[in-house]
Amino acid sequence: MQHNTLDLIQSRRSHRKYKPDQLTQAQLDAILDAALASPSANNRQPWYFSVVQDSALLDRLHQEAARMALAREPSQRSPRYRDPAFQVFYHAPTVIFLSAPQDNHYAMVDCGIAVYGIALAAEAQGLGSVILGLPRDAFSGSAREELERALHFPEGHQFVIAIALGYPEDDKPAHDKHPEKISIIR
Ligand SMILES: Cc1cc2nc3c(=O)[nH]c(=O)nc-3n(C[C@H](O)[C@H](O)[C@H](O)COP(=O)(O)O)c2cc1C
Repeated sequence: MQHNTLDLIQSRRSHRKYKPDQLTQAQLDAILDAALASPSANNRQPWYFSVVQDSALLDRLHQEAARMALAREPSQRSPRYRDPAFQVFYHAPTVIFLSAPQDNHYAMVDCGIAVYGIALAAEAQGLGSVILGLPRDAFSGSAREELERALHFPEGHQFVIAIALGYPEDDKPAHDKHPEKISIIR
């Protein structure tokens, strides 16, 4: 297990191929405890974490996301849909959905911080992850209420972001970095 935070930050990648093996309960507990430790504006903790290990529900969510995405012009959907084998969750054994009330100005930021904490907590345990925005499409059509209920979203919560977790089966180099996007003003 890696413990150095700077090493964890540098070694994390988005993984898009997973072994079918499920996380242990101890691994999941550690990830969720890390999520709950996230900072939030005014400590409002606006998030709700829906942990899904039901592959049939994940497939239903994928089908609905794909249905909505494929109904749009090709230029208005992710090029990932060009691959007929594409599944928005990459068949990961665990996916966590973060939802929050939309009237909270900082909810998106808070959930962004929490989902990154989840990614690092996974990395620290030798697991892989990928943060997922594309499942949002599943909540843009007529199945929204049914899917929000299936995910136990609290009343008034909407999908913010998801993260897939599992044992990675792929490897890739770190993404390009752009230090020119930094100014140090002294
Ligand atoms: C808010 C957000 C949404 C993302 N949504 C998706 C997604 O739906 N599907 C996907 O494969 N990757 C998604 N990603 C992963 C990015 O593509 C990835 O972080 C980026 O390409 C950099 O690669 P790295 O994570 O390996 O450093 C998302 C990342 C973020 C931060």
